[in-house]
Amino acid sequence: SQRHQVDEALSSLQLTQEHLGWVKSRMRAGLEAGLKSHGPSPVKMLPAYVYRTPDGTEHGKYLALDLGGTNFRVLLVKIRSGLRRSVRLYNKIYAIPLEIMQGTGEELFDHIVQCISDFLDYMGMKNTRLPLGFTFSFPCYQKAIDTGTLVSWTKGFKATGCQGNDVVDMLRDAIKRRNEFDLDIVAIVNDTVGTMMSCAYEDPQCEIGLIAGTGSNVCYMEELRNVEKVQGGEAEDGGREERSRENLRMCINTEWGGLGEDGCLDDIITPYDSAVDRESLNQGKQRFEKMTSGLYLGEIVRQVLLDLTRRGLLFRGHVTEALKTPGIFHTKYLSQIERKVYDRLALLQVRSILQQLGLDSTSNDSIIVKEVCGAVSRRAAQMCGAGMAAVVDKIRENRGLDHLDITVGVDGTLYKLHPHFSMVLQHTVRALAPMCQVTFTLSEEGSGKGAALITAVARGDQAR
Ligand code: BG6
Ligand code: GLC
Repeated sequence: SQRHQVDEALSSLQLTQEHLGWVKSRMRAGLEAGLKSHGPSPVKMLPAYVYRTPDGTEHGKYLALDLGGTNFRVLLVKIRSGLRRSVRLYNKIYAIPLEIMQGTGEELFDHIVQCISDFLDYMGMKNTRLPLGFTFSFPCYQKAIDTGTLVSWTKGFKATGCQGNDVVDMLRDAIKRRNEFDLDIVAIVNDTVGTMMSCAYEDPQCEIGLIAGTGSNVCYMEELRNVEKVQGGEAEDGGREERSRENLRMCINTEWGGLGEDGCLDDIITPYDSAVDRESLNQGKQRFEKMTSGLYLGEIVRQVLLDLTRRGLLFRGHVTEALKTPGIFHTKYLSQIERKVYDRLALLQVRSILQQLGLDSTSNDSIIVKEVCGAVSRRAAQMCGAGMAAVVDKIRENRGLDHLDITVGVDGTLYKLHPHFSMVLQHTVRALAPMCQVTFTLSEEGSGKGAALITAVARGDQAR
């Protein structure tokens, strides 16, 4: 029967507790391999050269950039220390047009500098040489806090001439080309690291940063003795060699989205996932990210709907142009569709959302579409939860504890806007890491604030 066939298609997206335990152990193995390896590894485990979270002594005026999520932002961040410690933010959002995301690197960085110029005019600050923290939400290989070589673009970016180059140099060159103002680029920061720092400013137990947004990624504080990449004199990190490695930590940007690039997730990858991967800008890469993040979930849904329609189980078997269009199913719609509880009115609303997408549905269709959205987003949240369980258990074992209390700072549109994602994620972590008490705290101000705090920490540590 129709019902039976639909259920069968959906069951390929359903993960049992056993599957989830297996994802957790794959992630754990990925983390370990990435920490050890000097060469490329699916989970990159990139040292972030952040040795501690803020302690409240940070202060000063900073400029921050936030590039790589839904919005590009330029911010001015004022940090006060002492009894009246506080962080004040002024920011402006700028668009990055698709042709710039996918044009040349020079065009991209000229555009960024043009936005900074506009912001400095707007704030009346063109003549002050401010320290800058650059949140750049892509994998960067760092040798110090103020250098970062782009390993590869992810998500929707593919500007030419950037991969393998130092992003800080590219920004400096663009500032020179414009020859209008000067900035002191102090830190380059992944968004996960910015998010962790910004939450840690309020809660010292926060030692993990999670992004569940356009992309999916995690950072956490690792024991320095486990970070082989920074050992053996490879780090050009002035003066720090003298410090003992015992009891020191460093933040690691895991880039967990890369898990599965070696085929280790193939057992649970469905034909729908493979189709999404084939259509993406980075085929074969970021397989875990493509099952768990906002840029891709709508596409997985579209692939399932296409399949069901082709088999005559949906939309009266009518494959429309809309259904064939990549990208129509924004995560925003997924969230809207799943927010509706089952009643007649809600189903009418689901039908009207589908109508907006150019899809004529019966009420039975709308029930099936809702189930597909639910299966896809549930699997995403469970996989993130399984990954997080691996991270918290690793931290617990690092510290030789039977019980770990820890906070995760979180940001990203998927986590914030989806009605069930955060619940399912938290539930999965609880089930798979029962020896850890994990609190999730939403980052209220994004990672721009964190970038400024890191800049402040980096400067403070220099002065010490
Ligand atoms: C923002 C952070 O709030 O969340 C960004 O400031 C981050 O740095 C973003 O990239 C992630 O969410 P999304 O959904 O916009 O990709
Ligand atoms: C992608 C990027 C990563 C970033 C994440 C969330 O996975 O590679 O650096 O943290 O998206 O924005």
